[in-house]
Amino acid sequence: RAFRAGRDGHSRDEGHTASAGPVTTSRTGHVPVWFMRQAGRSLPEYRALREGTAMLDACLDPAMASEITLQPVRRHGVDAGIFFSDIVVPLLLAGVDVDIVPGTGPVFADPVRTAADVARLRPIDPAALAPITEGVARTVAELGQTPLIGFAGAPFTLASYLVEGGPSKDQLRARTLMHAEPETWQALMDWAADVTGAFLRAQVLAGTSAAQLFDSWAGSLSLADYEAYVAPASRRALTHVADLDVPVVHFGTGTGELLAAMRDVGADVVGVDHRIGLAEANRRLGGTTVVQGNIDPALLGAPWPALEAHVREVIAQGSEAPGHVLNLGHGVPPTTDPEVLTRIVRLAHGEL
Ligand code: CP3
Repeated sequence: RAFRAGRDGHSRDEGHTASAGPVTTSRTGHVPVWFMRQAGRSLPEYRALREGTAMLDACLDPAMASEITLQPVRRHGVDAGIFFSDIVVPLLLAGVDVDIVPGTGPVFADPVRTAADVARLRPIDPAALAPITEGVARTVAELGQTPLIGFAGAPFTLASYLVEGGPSKDQLRARTLMHAEPETWQALMDWAADVTGAFLRAQVLAGTSAAQLFDSWAGSLSLADYEAYVAPASRRALTHVADLDVPVVHFGTGTGELLAAMRDVGADVVGVDHRIGLAEANRRLGGTTVVQGNIDPALLGAPWPALEAHVREVIAQGSEAPGHVLNLGHGVPPTTDPEVLTRIVRLAHGEL
């Protein structure tokens, strides 16, 4: 069944690229827009559906994951869906004891801190990815012309959760390990690259039109450490999809100093958070790279005139780059009024 993006039945998605095409090129004259964490607690329909189901169980239920993915596409008319899952899902599927604690994030029963801990990590069994493949395939079939984005966590962000055992302020233990035991660190990063790369590849093979690598916490690294201890593993993760011909977005927060290095691991599009303007990001990228971002999530709670002026400024600055995908600088906060997101989509689509 074809699924159309317009809530109101208007075919403003007419002429959109088919699922094989890049989401980074607008053929409709408007800036394409989607939101990181567009599925989730900001939506009452999500909260209702998730009632009584643990986060990771929801991720492994193909029908539920698919429905949650479609909810924000229907409601907001965004130009892409992003598959509902989590960066720790491939770790779980590789046998790691992880839970997602509401209000906290991923928590690991056995943090990975020594060479022996790393040696115990197992590769992912491809058969374990079946619920992901099925969830993506169902979603792509429902979305019709609207592209679906697959995603994975970058090795550094995954390793920082694994080493810390959970969320941390500045990834101190992980950043110490890379210097204290570089061989242990590299083995951990290589393992994470292959596990997360397999998760990403499964989604693309099942039909996603693009892939996004989330290195959310890379901004805690110096450029020198990023290049020496992190970039090789991110490049390795992306080699898992390099033959599949989909555009790759690479995103992190606080990465103003890392933008070009993050592109150079093999990304087509660089995601930028709110801390620098897109015009400056474009300059740092040499004017050759499509950018994604960077509405400040804090502005979602401000009065519409302030938010509207901010979004228009983001679009104006983004127009200096060779291409721009409008998005937030980080995920949708759970307290966001979803009507505000719909309004941003209408603004981007030239309807306001
Ligand atoms: O963007 C989307 O709509 C797709 C789904 C998605 C989720 N997590 C669903 C989710 C994506 C792309 C992610 C990626 C993710 N997960 C990242 C990278 C992006 C980022 O935000 O920096 C990270 C760091 C995680 C780890 C993680 N998982 C955190 C920090 C949390 C929040 C914990 C909390 O309750 O505040 C999660 C849980 C999570 N992942 C939720 C959702 C919708 C909330 C779970 C719930 O509804 O109970």
